[in-house]
Amino acid sequence: MHLTLRQLSVFAAVARHRSYTRAAEELHLSQPAVSMQIRQLEDTVGLALFEKLGKKIHLTEAGAEVFHYSQAIGQQLRELDEVIEALKGVQGGRLRISVATTANYFATRLLAAFSQRYPETTFSLDVTNRKTLLDQLAANETDLVIMGKPPENLELEASPFMDNPLVVIAPAGHPLAGERGIPLRRLQQEVFVVRELESGTRIAMKRFFEERRMQLNTGMEMTSNSAIKHAVEAGLGLGIVSVHTLELELEAGRLIVLDVEGFPIQRHWYLVRCKGKRLPPVAQAFFDFLMGEEAVPALHPGLTTELA
Ligand code: PGA
Repeated sequence: MHLTLRQLSVFAAVARHRSYTRAAEELHLSQPAVSMQIRQLEDTVGLALFEKLGKKIHLTEAGAEVFHYSQAIGQQLRELDEVIEALKGVQGGRLRISVATTANYFATRLLAAFSQRYPETTFSLDVTNRKTLLDQLAANETDLVIMGKPPENLELEASPFMDNPLVVIAPAGHPLAGERGIPLRRLQQEVFVVRELESGTRIAMKRFFEERRMQLNTGMEMTSNSAIKHAVEAGLGLGIVSVHTLELELEAGRLIVLDVEGFPIQRHWYLVRCKGKRLPPVAQAFFDFLMGEEAVPALHPGLTTELA
C-alpha cells in the first residue's frame, strides 16, 4: 500500500474529531485539502474509511483498523523523534512548543531570547486554542505548552512562571475613562465583546462574575484578542483581556484600562507538560531558561527599560 504519513495524520485528526472542519482547523488546512487527503487514502486502501449517518460521520470497520494502526505509527514516530532529539542535545535540537492564543503576545520574544542563548536550536511553534492544547498534551504531540491553569483532573505538571492579570478595556474617550474605583455593578450597564466559551480568558471571566453573583451583558463573541481589541476600539462594547495583549494599543492611546473594583482578575501563565514526561534536552533547557532569571528581560521588557 502506498499511503503516506501525511495522509495518515490527516485521517487521524478527522477520526479523533469526527469532523472534517475541526480537523482542518487543528491542522491549519482548508477543508477541501483535508477531504482530498482522505479521498486519496481511501483510494489507496480500496475501502471507505468514514460513513455519514445523518449529520455525523463515523468510522467504518476499515476506518477503525486504519485509526488503530495510525495511532501506533504516530506513537512510534514520536518515540523516534525523542530518541533523535536526545542524541542531538540542546544545540541542534528542535523545540516543539504550543501556546495559547493569548500567550503568543510574548512567546515569540521568549523564543528569540532563548535562541540567542542557544543559536543552533530550531523551533516548531503552534499558536492554538485551549482545547487543542489539552488534546496535544494528551496525545503527546508537543513537548511543552504555555497556557492558563489547566484542569486539575488531567495527568499534567503545571509550573507557574508569570502573572497574567485580566483587565477591563474601553475605547479612549469612554464616559468611564479617568474614573477611579468604578463599582463592579456599574459594568452591568455596558455590553461586553467576549472571547469564545472554551478560552482561558472567558472561563476566568465567567468564574469571577459568577462568584460575585453577577451576569454581564455579552454581545459579540470572538476567537482572537486582536478582534476583541478592534471591536472595543470601534465602540462595539467593553472587553476583558490579558494585559499582555495590550502593549501597543495602550502606548498609542487607542484603548484604555478602566479602574474597576476587584480588577485586575489575577491569573498566572503556566508551563505545562504530561506528568512524568522526560523532556528532550532542548525542551528541558527551555524549561530551565523560562524558570530562571535569564528570561526576565524577555518577559518584562518594560521593567528592564525602567531599571536601565
Ligand atoms: P486564552 O488564554 O485561552 O484565553 O487564549 C490562555 C489562558 O488564559 O488559558
